Amino acid sequence: MLSSVTSILIIHCEPQSWAMTTLITGGTGKTGSRVAHRLNALGHPVRAVSRHSEPRFDWYDDSTWEGALRGCTSAYLTFQPDIGIPGSDVILGAFSRRAVVLGCTRLVLLSGRGEDAARRAEAAFIAAGAEWTILRSAFFFQNFTEALWGAEIAAGSLTMVQSTVGEPFVDADDIAEVAVATLLDPAHIGRVHELTGPRLITFRDIAHEMSTVYGRPIVYRQLPVEDYVAALVSAGLPQEDAVGLAYVFDEVLDGRNAHVESGVNDVLGREGRDFATFLGDTLAQTAHHA
Ligand SMILES: NC(=O)c1ccc[n+]([C@@H]2O[C@H](COP(=O)([O-])OP(=O)(O)OC[C@H]3O[C@@H](n4cnc5c(N)ncnc54)[C@H](OP(=O)(O)O)[C@@H]3O)[C@@H](O)[C@H]2O)c1
Repeated sequence: MLSSVTSILIIHCEPQSWAMTTLITGGTGKTGSRVAHRLNALGHPVRAVSRHSEPRFDWYDDSTWEGALRGCTSAYLTFQPDIGIPGSDVILGAFSRRAVVLGCTRLVLLSGRGEDAARRAEAAFIAAGAEWTILRSAFFFQNFTEALWGAEIAAGSLTMVQSTVGEPFVDADDIAEVAVATLLDPAHIGRVHELTGPRLITFRDIAHEMSTVYGRPIVYRQLPVEDYVAALVSAGLPQEDAVGLAYVFDEVLDGRNAHVESGVNDVLGREGRDFATFLGDTLAQTAHHA
């Protein structure tokens, strides 16, 4: 037993492996944690950071950036609270330039679809001179089972800004698989992948499908954007983040993103997981752990 543990440690400590450590921001978040898990499973060293990690990393405190970046040659970047918030371009641009100077030159960025501020952030990211890839993603399934709406749904309701259009929600596990594939294959340098799930679903449909699969009512409520800000604040979000998020949702849920894209299939050679399959799998996992 001891010898097999020792050999595992030796494999993970090869100097060449350490030279290729991947930084993951939002390391405990919905996609960051999954990317870290997959890279670890493949034997690639990762440094998953957030405001509560060691080293500490905060997008809004540039004195924390160098400690996170030092020794990393590649990075998976998720910007919090949302890349669609005005000013994300200034921070992401400065961070990406610092990364390149410190030798972290292979950068994969998670972005959002149809958001003006996200487009500006992508431009600043590209201008930094890294070997870049952009993953422009639809809303995740996991918003309904983890943060942002998981707790409200567990309590029996789903509240959103007024919208009747469909969104091609996508699985964060598929995004993580795409992120790892792009990090490991230089063929993706300089490319933008638009990532969606396989079908359009409205928020009302989400509440309905979850009610059916979970066997309990989930009441759907839609609010004017100002009232939605108030609902987010009363759910515990800081006022500034609530305003930013609510207006991003209001902006992108006007039909501009209501189409399915081929990015998951282009990178992975298969369709993304469907929401119904995701719900069934999640329920089965919960039952297994109960
Ligand atoms: N969610 C979606 O449906 C979706 C869709 C498309 C694009 N995106 C984009 O993906 C990015 C991530 O969004 P997400 O919803 O998936 O969030 P998330 O990655 O789940 O966010 C949580 C993570 O971010 C960390 N974090 C929070 N504030 C931070 C800060 N100021 N500095 C450093 N780390 C911080 C948290 O850890 P600590 O609390 O320990 O700091 C945690 O690790 C955003 O840019 C968003 O625009 C999201």
